[in-house]
Amino acid sequence: MKALVLSGGMGLRLRPFSHSMPKQLMPLANKPVLLHVIEQLRGLGVTEIGVVVGERAEKFSQYLGDGAEFGVRLTYIPQDAPRGLAHCVAISREFLGDDDFVMYLGDNLLPEGVNDIAAEFRARRPAAQLVVHKVADPRAFGVAEVDATGRVLRLVEKPERPVSDLAVVGVYFFTAAIHEAVAAVESSARGELEITDAVQWLVTRGVEVRASAYRGYWKDAGQIDDVLACNRELLDRLKPSVDGEVDAHSELIGAVVVEEGARVVRSRITGPAVVGAGAVVEGSSIGPHTSIGEGCRLLGVQVSDTIVLERASMRGVTSVRGSIIGREASVSAVDADGSHRLIVGDHARVEVAA
Ligand code: G1P
Repeated sequence: MKALVLSGGMGLRLRPFSHSMPKQLMPLANKPVLLHVIEQLRGLGVTEIGVVVGERAEKFSQYLGDGAEFGVRLTYIPQDAPRGLAHCVAISREFLGDDDFVMYLGDNLLPEGVNDIAAEFRARRPAAQLVVHKVADPRAFGVAEVDATGRVLRLVEKPERPVSDLAVVGVYFFTAAIHEAVAAVESSARGELEITDAVQWLVTRGVEVRASAYRGYWKDAGQIDDVLACNRELLDRLKPSVDGEVDAHSELIGAVVVEEGARVVRSRITGPAVVGAGAVVEGSSIGPHTSIGEGCRLLGVQVSDTIVLERASMRGVTSVRGSIIGREASVSAVDADGSHRLIVGDHARVEVAA
């Protein structure tokens, strides 16, 4: 089985971070969401991975290279514009050949994995095997109507009046039967070739399409609050380890990871939290649910429920929470007349206490 990981798209809801990096490279517990996906695919025994990339293609190859470092082989497949998930399959035809494949949206997080569903697909090989998840309001997703045996009877993309509470998760298993379906569908109202329509095309022709429920945590890390929620979720699974230095005046409480070369000085770190390689945390109170990226410098701060990206610095600011601080950004308190001085990038968002 091969894999197709979809990482095109503009990431508009993740601005300003998506101005300089694809949303799939946003770190969750200090590791890009895409790497969480790749590790999971490797866990399924899949090592031939096609990555569909959009306008920031070079960022992926800079970070992931040919995949060897992560035990997989990556083939980058450029997409000229976000034209839909079925379009991604169409442009990957040569890479996929006639092999079975799993298609995984590069910003979807399913920490519990889909091993059992992959095994089901491998054993039975329906034309398509969907992953569905019960949600309170499925209107923002593809929605599946499934019979008692797991056979899909109908699929509708973002219905106003959903026929069930089963949302289609961004992980799909296909045999080569999907290619004819993808070639047959036309653009939807939003101007995209929808995978939902291609799968429905199979259903209409009486071809076997099945759905299996995923019961773990699922979110697509497509917007700020969801990124923070995913970060919390992954940190909650953290196993403590200290490879850096923690001085005698510091205290680590709960699951805390201090990566190699990091230094914690006169600070209290409440887990779950991770301090990235080479970062320095001094005179600060960090956590819970906080990820500090590689090479950050935090001095005299109090930060919780926050992601600080690589090489950012923070000094003298307290009560920071629910925040994401960009790469090499600087946040500091200065002696001033009580006013705020803000040098804030395009599409950024700042919320200060009134
Ligand atoms: C896409 C699919 C939708 C699915 C969702 C999962 O939606 O079209 O059927 O439920 O991914 O994240 P999109 O993110 O393109 O709106």
